[in-house]
Amino acid sequence: MGGNIFDNFLAHPSLFINKEVMRHSHSPKELPHREREIKAIRFNLVEALKGQIPSNMILYGVTGAGKTAVTRFICSQLEDKGKQIGNSVNPVHVNCRTIDTQYRVLAFLGNSLLESHEMEDIPFTGWPTDRVFDELVRRMNRRGGVHVIVLDEIDHLVKKTGDDLLYNLCNINEDLKRRGSARCCVIGISNDLKFTEYLDPRVMSRLGQESVIFSPYDAGQLSDILQKRAEKGIKKGILGEGVLPLCSALAAQEHGDARRALDLIRVSTEKAEQSGDEKVEVHHVRMAQNQIECDQITPVIKTLPPQQKLVLFAVLLNERNGLSNIATGEVYEIYRQACKHYGSNNLTQRRVTDLLSNLDMLGLINSKTVSRGRYGRSKEINSCMPESIDATGIMIQADESLDSVNNGSYRFQSRL
Ligand SMILES: Nc1ncnc2c1ncn2[C@@H]1O[C@H](COP(=O)(O)OP(=O)(O)O)[C@@H](O)[C@H]1O
Ligand SMILES: [Mg+2]
Repeated sequence: MGGNIFDNFLAHPSLFINKEVMRHSHSPKELPHREREIKAIRFNLVEALKGQIPSNMILYGVTGAGKTAVTRFICSQLEDKGKQIGNSVNPVHVNCRTIDTQYRVLAFLGNSLLESHEMEDIPFTGWPTDRVFDELVRRMNRRGGVHVIVLDEIDHLVKKTGDDLLYNLCNINEDLKRRGSARCCVIGISNDLKFTEYLDPRVMSRLGQESVIFSPYDAGQLSDILQKRAEKGIKKGILGEGVLPLCSALAAQEHGDARRALDLIRVSTEKAEQSGDEKVEVHHVRMAQNQIECDQITPVIKTLPPQQKLVLFAVLLNERNGLSNIATGEVYEIYRQACKHYGSNNLTQRRVTDLLSNLDMLGLINSKTVSRGRYGRSKEINSCMPESIDATGIMIQADESLDSVNNGSYRFQSRL
């Protein structure tokens, strides 16, 4: 009597061999379709093994083009080889999206060179930047050899705080030479192809000594990549016909993003597992795609102000009633009814038009202006949301925020 809630799940063996292999964070040793990029970077970095200073480099490419994976792989091979032949090469990888100021990057680099017996870290904040820089130079020289500093997502840091960090690091060899024998090269990785427009020409000429462009993967390449990862991560014979090609095609539409492709295949397999199915089929991929889109969109919706939520809701309600290419007037009408329903004052149609442009900018709706001949121009509005997004959920959120605005005096039963 009274089974255990886990019984059913234990009865179904997992469809994964190793789910970790299917996550972004996993660093694969095989990187199909990046042979050309690997070769170019290797050709430059091999200098470090000979005790010479490699050129500084910039690596560009859209997100999910394999820049981080390729760089991490090469750097780990480089370090191993250095140890093997007794030439000290020290690669350090910094993610400038999370470590996003000059001070913090310098402190991070310095602390990565701490000797095991040392207790004294460079503090998180508080020292003058000069002192952190001097300490970094001292520690680099103490370790000796060639340091390879990888500044991943550097576009993020430069847009936020400028290019001082790059300027200082690209000139660090002069400081190193004055006081010791260590040498250094810098590799900047950017998701933004126009990143160099943010750089001072002096920085650009030093950092951009060599550049490598990672072009987006096409559907066939993504399919090969998924195939290789799935061999290690997902049980054999589980992926139904058409599953890999569909995941690859969907990710290729989205600028050839290997990260999206991996998400799709991993979440599809989870969906099959959750449904107790023994194979992953095309409909699981559709479910996965929907979930991934919802996961991306939900936080954006959550942070919208209440009136904006009502306007969005008005668009969705029109659509759920079977309309498409909705006119601003139709959105406004439903919006007005919703405001009445919630006992909230409604904004003018003009303001609602502004809010609609805002939703358009956030990518939640798509509005295009069409000409109606002698009747002038009007807007056609459609939402850009996955089908499974919960419109009533948005409304309840709007209700709650309005409720606090209205101090609880008008509380409606959500019947829409
Ligand atoms: N050629 C490839 N072979 C196998 N996995 C890849 C390949 N390219 C990218 N990936 C995987 O796709 C995901 C995204 O790649 P990543 O290197 O983070 O892209 P980027 O840094 O260019 O945004 C990572 O999990 C990575 O391991
Ligand atoms: Mg990256």
